[in-house]
Amino acid sequence: MNDIHKELKEVVSSLKGHLIYQRDILLAEGLSADEYAKIRAAIRQESESRSQSKQSAVGSQQAAVSNPPIQQLTDSPQIPGKSHKELLEGLRSEIGVCQRCKLGKTRTNLVFGVGNPDAKIVFVGEGPGRDEDLQGEPFVGRAGQLLTDIITKGMKMMREDVYICNVVKCRPPENRNPEPDEIDACERFLIRQLEIIRPEIIVALGTFAAQTLLKTELPISKLRGRFHDYKGIQVMPTFHPSYLLRNPDKKKETWEDIKMVIARLG
Ligand code: URA
Ligand code: URA
Repeated sequence: MNDIHKELKEVVSSLKGHLIYQRDILLAEGLSADEYAKIRAAIRQESESRSQSKQSAVGSQQAAVSNPPIQQLTDSPQIPGKSHKELLEGLRSEIGVCQRCKLGKTRTNLVFGVGNPDAKIVFVGEGPGRDEDLQGEPFVGRAGQLLTDIITKGMKMMREDVYICNVVKCRPPENRNPEPDEIDACERFLIRQLEIIRPEIIVALGTFAAQTLLKTELPISKLRGRFHDYKGIQVMPTFHPSYLLRNPDKKKETWEDIKMVIARLG
């Protein structure tokens, strides 16, 4: 496809996402949570059956695609002439008022990500906690303060210089671990964020981020301390700041990891 087609496709898709978002906002006003959930389910069913009939019309090749996403994401995140900031905003509006997994029912705010869209370094956590859910920003609670210290005191950077996001965008109730179906539903948004930003280095904070990105079941203790590859981007797994708060003696290991990151950034 040539660039103008790609761009048009992106514009149409982001407009569609925006309209869905607007519709959801209108819908949500004045409805009880129960009524809202019912309407959402009806819309989802309708859009699923529509995309299925579209697929069977297109032919058996396309119909073989399993589990079509509710809203098809556009296929190329890098659009000439579009800034990373615009692309991230487009992605955020495509996500809309998300009900793709059960966390949509219990969250206060969807926590998309924060920071520099052109960052050389992206920190990926597990999922929002209570403070993050309330404020709509990742890593703003106690673990967030420790991460901020690592960035500012350790790396001599500002929070605004880096990009920070999570594997799942909505808070798991009582801070339980994200479940496989929730990661399945949400991971594509993380992948897209990373494709758009294309940082030099990803710091994977804790077991969940590291295992999700690196498709491994090895524990963080076996993964940290060396660089791994994610689609040509260097990944440094290290301990999660919440874990460091409970195990302060492990901070020196994370500091070793961060020093390797600093050295590689130059
Ligand atoms: N822990 C995480 O993994 N992410 C946050 O955003 C906050 C705490
Ligand atoms: N378990 C986790 O989930 N994260 C860590 O950083 C360490 C242990």
